[in-house]
Amino acid sequence: MKRVLIALLVAIIYHAEAKAWPNMNMMVRRSPLETLLPKNVHTLTDCMHVTSEDGIFTYRKVRRSSSFNSANGLHLVEMEPAEQQVCGVYFMTDPDKIIEVEVEFSDVSCDLGGLLGFVDGWELNGEYFPNINDHELPLEQRVFEFCDKTSSNPFIRKTLRKRKFISNQNGAVFQYKIPYQGSFAISARYVHNPKPCNIMAEGVAPFYVLQNYGSSRNCTITALFPAVVSILALDVGVNKGSVNYDCDHQNYFDKVIVGGSNGLDSSQMTKSAGICGTSEIKGPEQAIFCGVTSIRLESSGKHNNKVYVSLRQADENDMNLATAVCDL
Ligand SMILES: *[C@@H]1O[C@H](CO)[C@@H](O)[C@H](O)[C@H]1NC(C)=O
Repeated sequence: MKRVLIALLVAIIYHAEAKAWPNMNMMVRRSPLETLLPKNVHTLTDCMHVTSEDGIFTYRKVRRSSSFNSANGLHLVEMEPAEQQVCGVYFMTDPDKIIEVEVEFSDVSCDLGGLLGFVDGWELNGEYFPNINDHELPLEQRVFEFCDKTSSNPFIRKTLRKRKFISNQNGAVFQYKIPYQGSFAISARYVHNPKPCNIMAEGVAPFYVLQNYGSSRNCTITALFPAVVSILALDVGVNKGSVNYDCDHQNYFDKVIVGGSNGLDSSQMTKSAGICGTSEIKGPEQAIFCGVTSIRLESSGKHNNKVYVSLRQADENDMNLATAVCDL
């Protein structure tokens, strides 16, 4: 019921003339249905919008044209050129949450070259987080694209479309390409994830935890900045009782790798250390001077691995801690 109302409300707002807005607002405020309405409505203006907020996100583009009379008396109309830019709402939430995005309303015509999309993870310059090999799903099942087919009945076209997407980690992107005109409204909410594996780190938490829950998989913490990393505690692989910072070779399948890369794809990262063993003592700080910092736990499935990591943004004072530097 609530969703129907939201969709209806959004549709009404979109079809209302600009000057009708003050009235609309008053009507909404006085309505006894107020409690059913969403608290947070965000209007998208920046092409890249990064957010941790929930609520409704709306975008609307109107085709602009200017008309004028030429010197020889002809009436000319000039259209704004098409914009092929792909924009996105980049969602990032707490490590132990996943993202649910629902399309409440869309009027993005396929015929006008419009496209909407959802990415299970982050995509930047063709690179993905989690990287293509680490995600439980193949890329085809992580990226969805759609648009609105023209129908002779506009009401049907605008109300039938109802899609819902859920990410597998705390990052996801809703993309849109609207060359001429169109509008949409999506709602986002964050849901608890009992077994987080891949994590986007904002760098504000006192520590992050990676674990494999006994399964054969690789999990990565990724921060989109150069970072100072230290292992606070770990229990990874076989050699119990001591920590080894030289595990990055074939003898050790289960290990933690710290390193960095210029893009989101951590599979080709510049490595600083491969760490395994057990320890409850904070390890040395190491600074990764790369645009993207990653801490990756590789697990064979033979062990219950767990690692606690601290992470903070690196600055020039941390140069003496540098263990990995990426080419610019
Ligand atoms: C984990 O990463 C290692 C090294 O890149 C790779 O050999 C292995 O196949 C990966 N495991 C899984 C389950 O993807």
